[in-house]
Amino acid sequence: MLAAELFERTGFEVMFRALHVVVGIAWIGLLYYFNVVQVPAFAELEPAQRSAAIDKIANRALWWFRWAAAATVVMGVLILGIQDPFGAGSDKTGFSTDYWGTIRGTGILTGILLGFTMFLNVWLIIWPKQKIVIANARNVLAGGEADPNAAAAGRAALLASRTNTFFSFAMIWFMVSTSFVDGLGFGTNDGILGYWIVVLVLWAVLEAFGTGMIGGTAPSTLRWWEETHLRTIAAGVVLWIVFLILWLLLLNP
Ligand code: HEM
Repeated sequence: MLAAELFERTGFEVMFRALHVVVGIAWIGLLYYFNVVQVPAFAELEPAQRSAAIDKIANRALWWFRWAAAATVVMGVLILGIQDPFGAGSDKTGFSTDYWGTIRGTGILTGILLGFTMFLNVWLIIWPKQKIVIANARNVLAGGEADPNAAAAGRAALLASRTNTFFSFAMIWFMVSTSFVDGLGFGTNDGILGYWIVVLVLWAVLEAFGTGMIGGTAPSTLRWWEETHLRTIAAGVVLWIVFLILWLLLLNP
């Protein structure tokens, strides 16, 4: 690629894609660290050690986590805004409504549904709840009284974090497979309405139960797939397979 071409449409798209992947790695890497390292490790610490670790480690990790999530969404929207999804020198972009009905558009829209939900879980649940946990840890370290709401806030943040891990495999699949899906023989004509009905119902139920919006945040057998981190990972792989089956059944004329 000539240097001049870097400053044309395709060059910008490639740069936005690379930046999107870098900040996406930072976000999802920290998500996996929280789920498989930090939560189990902090549970083994003494209360005073845990408060110090929340103050010095979790607090820093959460800064990079939430801003990497925001940067991932911004870069993703920039890709949509500059790319030519028809790849034929058209003047359309990923914002074009013609795109959403295609098989490629269906793939990226499914990825964005999951990715944007995960972003909202970070900013509307995990971070507000973790602010309560961090303030409590700092207060206790300074010799103050423990906040009786801190444990419930930590539990709500944990569930949202597990929900994000659960969604993450399918989300990344749709991100990376989108530009390969043309030409694989899938089609959207007959099955797309059924596909979106099934996907939206599945998404709404899993998000509402997973985060405790329905059924509360107390440990529950109803939410068995999120009660340990290993189950969450296994269930996330199953969800990914469910999406693959939905594509084969509903988008495979
Ligand atoms: C709401 C959030 C997001 C939006 C709007 C978004 C948007 C996009 C778009 C438009 C593409 C290009 C698809 C194509 O036509 O090939 C893409 C690709 C991709 N996205 Fe996202 N994305 C989001 C979240 C994420 C997250 C959380 C990750 C986590 C790692 C991620 C990782 C990727 C990767 C790895 C690719 C493939 C890049 C490539 O093949 O060049 N995205 N995303």
